[in-house]
Amino acid sequence: LIERSIRPQKLADYIGQEQVKDNLSIFIEAAKQRREPLDHVLLYGPPGLGKTTLSMIIASEMGVNIRTTSGPAIERPGDLAAILTALEPGDVLFIDEIHRLNRHVEEVLYPAMEDFCLDIVLGKGDTAHSVRIDLPPFTLIGATTRTGYLSAPLRDRFGVISRLEFYTTEELSLIIKRTAQILKTEIDERAAYEIARRSRGTPRIANRLLRRIRDFAQVTNDGKIDCFLTQESLSRLQVDDRGLDHIDHQLLKAIIEKFNGGPVGLDTIAATIGEERHTIEDVYEPYLLQIGFIQRTPRGRMVTEAVYNHFNLKGPYNK
Ligand code: ADE
Repeated sequence: LIERSIRPQKLADYIGQEQVKDNLSIFIEAAKQRREPLDHVLLYGPPGLGKTTLSMIIASEMGVNIRTTSGPAIERPGDLAAILTALEPGDVLFIDEIHRLNRHVEEVLYPAMEDFCLDIVLGKGDTAHSVRIDLPPFTLIGATTRTGYLSAPLRDRFGVISRLEFYTTEELSLIIKRTAQILKTEIDERAAYEIARRSRGTPRIANRLLRRIRDFAQVTNDGKIDCFLTQESLSRLQVDDRGLDHIDHQLLKAIIEKFNGGPVGLDTIAATIGEERHTIEDVYEPYLLQIGFIQRTPRGRMVTEAVYNHFNLKGPYNK
């Protein structure tokens, strides 16, 4: 129950992503005035920035139900047909990781999005024929880490395409204080700011760190979270001063120690540290690029001078 209430339920309670929020509130209002479902929405950006939360809010602001699924979970066209035919008029269908839909499923999705109908092929060989089934009008909300992963025809069928950005420290601090209140945990201003600063621009990370620090506060302290306890806890959690974790360190140090600071190809880095290429690309790299720790060059990834400074290393830059 608390899990659900940590997610904001209304657009007005959602902190950050101001431009996305402002635009969505207009599109929602306009659709409601016309008594139409909202046009299909594509949300993209790094994990943990609130794509699922925003989808739930959209459904709730439209006053409709939301059905949640994911690209890999829809294996066959029939799976998608079952979901679509069960929707009520105006409902939201949320497909997370929509870039992982297979081609056969994607092709069923096109007429569903465009004309609210399904073309189903019945029978085989000579007796095969297709029947058209009308669907209730619905809103598809797709979530993906990058639009580049989507096929052009799928991308083109979304009327609203919004990119979620990393949050500012101030925004994260507000989110942390809001969550702490819901968890009935006392936290002071400086502690909230310290967690925020070290959460990699990501509410999911901020809320996760808050929960762990709350555990430390409860067991080793009086339950209150202050800045000293926060710093102690984050150090035990191996979260460094910039919010980087063990895997960020492995990645940056591999480039420095094994490849002389780069440039080095992503696949080589992936093999060296034993992580999936896509995990590095989608989860770790975006924030490192954002804070200027990594640069992309035509010949691969390079670490910047800031990384040498961060690790107190003498680098090629101060020779
Ligand atoms: N919890 C997680 N993300 C949030 C956000 N953007 N606003 C408010 N609470 C949140």
